[in-house]
Amino acid sequence: MRRGLELVELDRHGVNTAFRADVLEGLAQVPKAIPARWLYDEAGSALFERITQLPEYYPTRAETEILGAQCEAFRRLIPPGRAVVEFGSGSSVKTPLLLGCISPAAYVPLDISGDFLRAAAADLAGKFPGLPVHPVEADFTKPVRLPHEVEVLPKLGFFPGSTIGNMVARTAVDLLRSMRATLGGDSLLLIGMDLIKDRALLEAAYDDAEGVTAAFNLNLARRINRELAGTIPLDKLRHVARWNDTYARIEMHLEATEPIAFTVDGRRFALAKGETIHTENSHKFDRRSQYTLLLAGGWTPVERWLDSEQRFSLILAEATRPRNAP
Ligand code: AVJ
Repeated sequence: MRRGLELVELDRHGVNTAFRADVLEGLAQVPKAIPARWLYDEAGSALFERITQLPEYYPTRAETEILGAQCEAFRRLIPPGRAVVEFGSGSSVKTPLLLGCISPAAYVPLDISGDFLRAAAADLAGKFPGLPVHPVEADFTKPVRLPHEVEVLPKLGFFPGSTIGNMVARTAVDLLRSMRATLGGDSLLLIGMDLIKDRALLEAAYDDAEGVTAAFNLNLARRINRELAGTIPLDKLRHVARWNDTYARIEMHLEATEPIAFTVDGRRFALAKGETIHTENSHKFDRRSQYTLLLAGGWTPVERWLDSEQRFSLILAEATRPRNAP
């Protein structure tokens, strides 16, 4: 990894300073919680790829089905000549389904990881010869200055995977507003959002029989031990995925199976038996909660599609035009 060229600040010991700050702060909090983005190191990203193939994990298949099925509708609703700006271009499988439908003028993948970005850009350029591809290495949680080549083009934002569900409402609204700032006032947004459904199906999707999601979650503790000189006893943590009905979200936690004490970067921490470290939220939506979130973020829904089993949704929205009244 050519970290030096990426947006990752390392101290003189090669420690990712933002990772250390988040972990030390998160473990000192009550209840303990670490931001989900740290799940995605190289091992974590590979495990997530395996998750998308699991029989229990329906979101990737369901969203891919919608993209394949709605080509006509995309062509009808999305004018040709748009610059397609993909937020977090990890998934190179879904994008061609969209690009193949809508006659885009350019493709702009945004990612914080330069490695993923270059891979996605090369892959797409190979599949669509003649389509200008302008990768941008950026943290898309803040407004991004797009390449001058696409400045004058109308934009279509693409944010698949229900990644918006990883954020609590306040952060999700901030992100949607940032996207609007990045894309401009005459832009469209195609966004994937997972749906509220039977609790058992949701919990199985985040706690698969093969244990891949458990390995994905536990990898965070392994990463802390490796990168931050941690002594977390991995064999005394277990993966928990539970539905929180109040917030309509699946929560992933690492739960201590007995009382444990450990150090991270020289600092002491302890977990009582049954105490957890909260590692991820995955919010689920219904039509009204989706519309509320999008509208709060400056996007007016235009059309909404579900897969054949009604497990997942894809929404096309347009940047809300300022209106006077009411
Ligand atoms: C990549 C954030 C969409 O929340 O479903 C999958 C991550 N975590 N299994 C999701 C995840 C555990 C995934 N997203």
